[in-house]
Amino acid sequence: MEFSVKTGHPEKQRAHCIIVGVFESRRLSAIAERLDTASQGYISNVLRKGDLDGKTGQTLLLHQIPNTLADRVLLVGCGKERELGDKEFRDIIRKATSAVIQTGSSEMVSFLTELNVKGRDIRWKIRQAVEIILGTVYVFDDYKSKKEKNRFALRRIVLTVPTRRDLIPAERAVLEGQAIAKGISLAKNLGNTPPNVCTPIYLAKEAEKISKEFQSVQTTILDEKEIAALKMGALLAVAKGSDNPPRFITLEYKGAKDKQKPIVLVGKGITFDTGGNSLKSPANMIGMKYDMCGAAAVLATLRAAAELELPLNIIGVITCAENMPGSKAARPDDIVTSLSGLTIEILNTDAEGRLVLCDALSYVERFDPDVVIDIATLTGACAATFGGHVSGLLSNHNPLANDLFDAGIASFDRCWQLPLWDEYQEALNSNFADIANIGNPPEAGTILGACFLARFTKKYHWAHLDVAGTAFRSLGKERGATGRPVPLLVQYLLDRC
Ligand code: BES
Ligand code: MN
Ligand code: ZN
Repeated sequence: MEFSVKTGHPEKQRAHCIIVGVFESRRLSAIAERLDTASQGYISNVLRKGDLDGKTGQTLLLHQIPNTLADRVLLVGCGKERELGDKEFRDIIRKATSAVIQTGSSEMVSFLTELNVKGRDIRWKIRQAVEIILGTVYVFDDYKSKKEKNRFALRRIVLTVPTRRDLIPAERAVLEGQAIAKGISLAKNLGNTPPNVCTPIYLAKEAEKISKEFQSVQTTILDEKEIAALKMGALLAVAKGSDNPPRFITLEYKGAKDKQKPIVLVGKGITFDTGGNSLKSPANMIGMKYDMCGAAAVLATLRAAAELELPLNIIGVITCAENMPGSKAARPDDIVTSLSGLTIEILNTDAEGRLVLCDALSYVERFDPDVVIDIATLTGACAATFGGHVSGLLSNHNPLANDLFDAGIASFDRCWQLPLWDEYQEALNSNFADIANIGNPPEAGTILGACFLARFTKKYHWAHLDVAGTAFRSLGKERGATGRPVPLLVQYLLDRC
């Protein structure tokens, strides 16, 4: 798909389809007004007949409007002008894109990016539009034996801006939007790929692909022997129940001088989570192929950073294993020694994410990080608390938490902070080891998961994103990976530039 930006008048567009907005109740946007004048009231006449009121997301397709050059005009309801915010804008773009696809047009010229969105500039609108259009056309049919060929014809997309001054920021926004959208697609593809294919070794190959594509990225892959030699006892305890061996993967993106401290991203890469010997119920096990979505987000974010040539040093670490039950697997009551030297009593083998992460969090100390952010589908409790809209955020450094919160708002990929206060730590005390991997009492699951990780992150500024609720949807027609929190992470990186 090809994107471009330009300025121009709607009646002069020689295009298959142009898109203009209409507010409630039948109030024409400035662009629609122009089209109406050129066509001597054609549009207002149609609206007067009651075909479109202007409620958010309504669409009406018109053909060959007098005195205009486009084959079709798609009118899109934009709701109340004063209430047009982030969510409304995104809904409008999504609905419009679906409607254009239905027409079979191969190109569209969208004037929707000229609408005023509360508090948002042209860069934001263009970037969001690109992300949403590419998100709307995403399909994952690698495993369908019959693929729908030429599902849609749409190839060329022109987004308009009000003035020539807007062209330069808009062009940059197209590049950013495309890089983010490609990252989102990559994260979705990896998440959706079934766990009999997407194993730790598969993720290692994906990391290598990124470093082949971008000279600025170098990949290091540690296999099970190297992981053992390093003494990552917690990661090994999770991995040993599976015939699919673990991989510990580091990607280094260098976009700045050596002396600039790196931003480190750590992703949970459990390619399937049965719960291990603390076996999940069948209902709870479905969808556990998505337990590597943290790792997918790290790969995707690094790829986007490399594509955008961001002037930062970024290190991505993904800690990959499969959590299986059986006679070789860890048991509840086992005690293992983590890379940090802390001993861990594994009281529940289903709390495996914190085990693979704690060794990664100790490992990254060697990079002398500016900040460390881990991304994990860590707790069902987080999905229960926030549902699918908001990721959990916990941090030992409030300025970092605030930056991530702001990046979430800016990218419409939002997170919300939970406390990490000391009182909670007590619940992780173990009678026999330095720390237990589940809480007693077991309440406040998301906070306790983060409290466990906090024991391993004392040497640097750290934040934890629990994406158990946001990285995928396990129910309904929309079942699948969402690509979150790639938009949030890329936004954070852009803000750091
Ligand atoms: N991968 C799960 C968390 C999860 C659950 C993610 C549902 C997405 C949807 C994690 O490994 C897990 O099993 N966590 C346990 C922790 C508990 C044993 C302390 C949980 O949430 O039940
Ligand atoms: Mn688990
Ligand atoms: Zn898990």
